[in-house]
Amino acid sequence: MTLAATGLSTVSGLTPLPHFDRPTYLMCPPQWYDVDYVINPWMAGNLHRPSRDRAFAQWRTLYDALHRMADVRVLHPREGSPDMTFVGHTAVVQHGVAAISNFAHPQREAEAQHLRRWMAEAGFLLWETPRESNFEGEGDVLMDPNGRHIWAAHGSRTCEHSHRHLASAWHATVTSLHLIDPRFYHLDTCFAPLAGGFLLYYPEAFDARSLDRIHVAYAPGKRIAVSEAEATQFACNVINISQRILMGTVGVNLAARLTTVGFHVQQIDLSEFLRGGGSAKSLALRLSDMSANTAAAR
Ligand code: ARG
Repeated sequence: MTLAATGLSTVSGLTPLPHFDRPTYLMCPPQWYDVDYVINPWMAGNLHRPSRDRAFAQWRTLYDALHRMADVRVLHPREGSPDMTFVGHTAVVQHGVAAISNFAHPQREAEAQHLRRWMAEAGFLLWETPRESNFEGEGDVLMDPNGRHIWAAHGSRTCEHSHRHLASAWHATVTSLHLIDPRFYHLDTCFAPLAGGFLLYYPEAFDARSLDRIHVAYAPGKRIAVSEAEATQFACNVINISQRILMGTVGVNLAARLTTVGFHVQQIDLSEFLRGGGSAKSLALRLSDMSANTAAAR
């Protein structure tokens, strides 16, 4: 297989692209998960501290919860890629097209290779971003529930140059957002478009211009701003399928606010993954279209 440097490439030729009627996700078990290096502020002080047994049990609880709402495929974990369980950062998928990440840190590069192989074998069209512009999958690029607009972050991992190139994969419009707090180094740590036109976000993670853009798109009644205490528990790193939300343990206050606007919230202890700098959303990669998520009734 030859992969083009940029643009589309596939091994499947004329076979139809993968399509899923039900919400479908990819997860990667934390078999080799550890904090082996420090590439975000959460990892500092946590070198080799995660317990793999506890991580496995927590991951399994998330897997089971997600499996009750969606189909879940499993990506084989690889030794030497301790962050691979955070599979959400390795691509963005929509309409059977997978834009593969170009990680900013060499420690995570191999993960993109592993995922590329899986995606190619599963028949996805691969959308490659130019090598010189970093892009970290759903860590930094999130779709609106209608799938026609993307929110893309820069300032920490993903490079602004990649935004237009990514949007062109789906002929989507793009709004770029600038992250300014190193603790919120990925967009999925501070921003989550939810079903029903709601937005869960941590306003202080953005510069003033980005905040204006967010506030133009979301009316005050649709914005659910989290506190610093909640944000640092990864309150915005959620999986949302229709009215259901899976998140780490953040507290009753936020759960009550989400329940008031019609969501059903399940909190799961994901403390071992917080040591690596991630939570629920980072542990699953969406494979189905956004429309499957919004339409899912169960
Ligand atoms: N150690 C991983 C990294 O820094 C953790 C990723 C979790 N990221 C997140 N968006 N929550 O790349």
